[in-house]
Amino acid sequence: MQNDTLKRRSFLNYLLGGGVIAVLAAIGFPIYKYLKPPKIPEAAESQVTAGTLAELQAAEGRYKIFRFGRKPGIVVLMPNNEIRAFSASCTHLDCIVQYRPDLNVLWCPCHNGKYDLTGRNISGPPPRPLEQWVAHYDKASDNIFVSKGEGA
Ligand code: FES
Repeated sequence: MQNDTLKRRSFLNYLLGGGVIAVLAAIGFPIYKYLKPPKIPEAAESQVTAGTLAELQAAEGRYKIFRFGRKPGIVVLMPNNEIRAFSASCTHLDCIVQYRPDLNVLWCPCHNGKYDLTGRNISGPPPRPLEQWVAHYDKASDNIFVSKGEGA
């Protein structure tokens, strides 16, 4: 009789222990998945099309945002009609930078960070220069191709 009670009690303890583990797993797994975001592969392509020169000339502010894999990029039509490309991700907190022809700078609207037209951080909180990419204009297709250049 007492042996039966012990068996029942240990069986109930076993069930309760399993239930507690299941509840902890049901709560902990979603938290773990939230805190550890999935890996997104880096862009496989070494060159992307940032648009056409006609689009860039027609764009307000003479700049265009494009995607290079999972990173945003910016192509800018300089006052001398040279085309330059940069990572558009501000080095402070990753806001998207814009070209401000009135100030002749690349400008981050989030905290008023400024970069000169070589991508060098010149004012505000950005700690590092913007990554400069290589822009190549193909006259035949009117396309602007951007690559990260050698060693990038
Ligand atoms: S995110 Fe660009 S200045 Fe802060």
